[in-house]
Amino acid sequence: MNLEGKRIGLALTGSFCTLAQVLEEAKALRAAGAELYPIFSENVQILDTKFGPASYWREAFGTVCEHEMITDIVQAEPIGPKSYLDLMLIAPCTGNTLAKLTQGITDGVVLMATKAHLRNNKPVVLAVATNDGLSRNLKNIAAMLAEKNIYLVPFGQDDPIKKPFSLVAKMPLIIDTVSNALEGRQLQPILR
Ligand SMILES: Cc1cc2nc3c(=O)[nH]c(=O)nc-3n(C[C@H](O)[C@H](O)[C@H](O)COP(=O)(O)O)c2cc1C
Repeated sequence: MNLEGKRIGLALTGSFCTLAQVLEEAKALRAAGAELYPIFSENVQILDTKFGPASYWREAFGTVCEHEMITDIVQAEPIGPKSYLDLMLIAPCTGNTLAKLTQGITDGVVLMATKAHLRNNKPVVLAVATNDGLSRNLKNIAAMLAEKNIYLVPFGQDDPIKKPFSLVAKMPLIIDTVSNALEGRQLQPILR
């Protein structure tokens, strides 16, 4: 896969259990030639969880991404007027961020960066990971599927017995989804 010179905003939100998988896909995007601009949600920037301290994730993604992290809405705003990204990837995308996105809320760095990018009529890829994907957040997934310039990393139920409402994107499909989205196509099948 050749993503040479493609500039991608890599936005991480607080699905802490999937950060390690996304890190691997960030490496794959970089190896394919993409330039990565990391954007951590405010929660990912500061929260230490059982999946690792915030400092660990900052450093791990910092070594993969050549650009400085965009950390607040002031730094995110120029993504609109300067139009310097080819694609915004929100991976993982929490239920919280998904719900706010569908409502046009922009009270955080990831949401502001995405709004700024969308104004330029360019693609956004979402890799959802949320325990309420088949309950409260299902309507928001439907809304995103119908929205121009939004593409979803194919997803499925990760643990139907213990977590019957949970949906998680197949993170190894991020690179294929990105590549298709850059050409205006949704990778299919969406349900896996
Ligand atoms: C250890 C841990 C794991 C979490 N995993 C998820 C998850 O997989 N999906 C999700 O939607 N929220 C998850 N959350 C909750 C989000 O972090 C929380 O909703 C937060 O407000 C998300 O903010 P953000 O979307 O701005 O990053 C988790 C929280 C913690 C502490």
